[in-house]
Amino acid sequence: MGDNNRGDNRSNNREGSVANAILARARPRTGQKGREIQPYGTIVKLSIALEEKACAASVANLNQLLADTMTLRDLYKKHHWQVSGPTFYQLHLLFDKHFKEQSELVDLLAERIQTLGGVTIAMAPDVAETSIIPRAPRGREEVPSQLSRLLHAHEIVLKESRTMARQASKDGDEGTNDILVSDVIRTNELQVWFASQHLVDEPVVRGDN
Ligand SMILES: [Fe+2]
Repeated sequence: MGDNNRGDNRSNNREGSVANAILARARPRTGQKGREIQPYGTIVKLSIALEEKACAASVANLNQLLADTMTLRDLYKKHHWQVSGPTFYQLHLLFDKHFKEQSELVDLLAERIQTLGGVTIAMAPDVAETSIIPRAPRGREEVPSQLSRLLHAHEIVLKESRTMARQASKDGDEGTNDILVSDVIRTNELQVWFASQHLVDEPVVRGDN
C-alpha cells in the first residue's frame, strides 16, 4: 500500500513537472534587452546591384528628407486640430487629407532607406533634432500664419528633394530618384497649390466692379 502511494506521488510529480515545462514555453519572454543589431548611420548592403557608397549617400539624404517630411506631416495634423475661423471646415478637411498623403510619403521614404541597407530615423526626439523645418509654437496660430508656415515647410522639402534627386541619378540610384521625383516632389507641389490658393485675397460676395 505504502509502496503504491510512493509510486503515485512520483508519477504525479513527473506529470506536474511536464505540465510546468509546457506552461513555461507558453510564457511570453518579456523584459528582454539585447544589443542593437545595426547602429544608425551604417549600411548593411543588400543584393540590389548598387555600390555601398551610392547606398550610403542616398540613405543620408533620405533620412534628412524623412525627418522633414515627418515634421511637415505633424504640422498638418496640428493645424487640422487647431484651425479656426470661417474656413474652418474646408481647411480642417484639407489639412487632414494632406496629413494622410504625407504619411504615405513617410512610409515610402522609410522603406526605401531600409531597402538601401540603411537604418531609418524614427522617433520624435531624433526627428526634432534632425529636421531643418523651423519649430512651430505649441499654441494656436491664425489661419494665414498656419498656411504660411506650411508653405515654408513645403518649400524646404521641395528644394532639398530636387538636389537629392539629382545626386541619386548621378550615383545611378534611379529607384531613389523615382521616389523623389514621382512621389515626393509631385505630391508636395500639388499640396502647395491647394494651400496657397487660400492666401489669395479675393472678394467672397461683392466683386471689384
Ligand atoms: Fe481628425
